[in-house]
Amino acid sequence: MARKFKVAVLPGDGIGPEIMEQALKALDAVGEKFSHEFEATEALFGGIAIDKTGEPLPKETIEICKQSDAILGGAVGGPKWDHVEQNLRPEAGLLALRKQFGLFANLRPVKLYPALIDNSTLKKEVIGGMDIMIVRELTGGIYFGQPKGIMESGTKGINTMVYTVEEVERVAKVAFEIALKRKKKLCSVDKSNVLEVSRLWRNTVEKLAKQFPEVELSHLYVDNAAMQLVRNPRQFDVIVTGNMFGDILSDEASMLSGSLGMLPSAAIGGKIGFFEPVHGSAPDIAGQGKANPCAMVCSVGMMLKYAFDLNEGHKAVDNAVSTALAKGFRCADIAKPGEKTVGTREMGQAILKEI
Ligand code: IPM
Ligand code: MN
Repeated sequence: MARKFKVAVLPGDGIGPEIMEQALKALDAVGEKFSHEFEATEALFGGIAIDKTGEPLPKETIEICKQSDAILGGAVGGPKWDHVEQNLRPEAGLLALRKQFGLFANLRPVKLYPALIDNSTLKKEVIGGMDIMIVRELTGGIYFGQPKGIMESGTKGINTMVYTVEEVERVAKVAFEIALKRKKKLCSVDKSNVLEVSRLWRNTVEKLAKQFPEVELSHLYVDNAAMQLVRNPRQFDVIVTGNMFGDILSDEASMLSGSLGMLPSAAIGGKIGFFEPVHGSAPDIAGQGKANPCAMVCSVGMMLKYAFDLNEGHKAVDNAVSTALAKGFRCADIAKPGEKTVGTREMGQAILKEI
């Protein structure tokens, strides 16, 4: 049955607009293939929004998002806004958007494309067959806890890591449910040997586990988890962790798949989901047409699955990326020394052809 969806499109800064252009082409191709209609409405977000309106997440953008079925984000930030007041920075806009829409669960899949097995800095024998889903708590923890700020005439900086039982429960539930559909293994990552907030996290996950007897639950301290990820990543199926630990571990894990330029993400839990690549705005290569659009395109794939329940569309996008890679198309970030590289457009075109 043909369906119609409204998508708020926030290209953002740096390479954001370039990769978004390719992602929207992929979205249109999926629409054509499966006879669905996607209506995209662009809005200002991040540094460009600061330049034009004075704030990173203007009211008008929030309105456009509210009237949509899903939100697609490019990337935000750049050196131009590094000296802007903390709560008006592009990144603050991103945090506000996550909070505003109640997007407490961030899914960051890390998988290995067979064509990229030689791209990882780790040995084939270590990463072959790796397939991990990181579930990062996204609207709590040290990113949002009070008190925070720079005080005592600039001599003291404070952030506070806070979690309530309710916050831990709801994100852990998402992780258990995802694990049920996968290899039924869940590893909860914390720092409960030192932090009280982590002790509460661990106890809460333990209690919830009783509702999911089929899922094998384990716990790791975050320092150990960071080490285990590069020692033996295949031991992991689903990982659930707090906001900052998840931020750090997902960047680390991205290198297992070859490049941060390959990792998409889905922020869910509210009425409207937000889909964005894990990587940043890469100001150093912005406007040069060489950014890898794969993570952005795969974020469209995640939107199809998690926001619209269009599993076929999701598979079509993932397979298209996989096939384009298998045919040898490589952007600079995933090319081996001496290998021929293509730009953002050509990569987008190569993926499009496979959809
Ligand atoms: C991410 C980013 C953001 C975060 C920044 C840009 C605020 O690093 O999505 O991983 O820390 O959450
Ligand atoms: Mn990050």
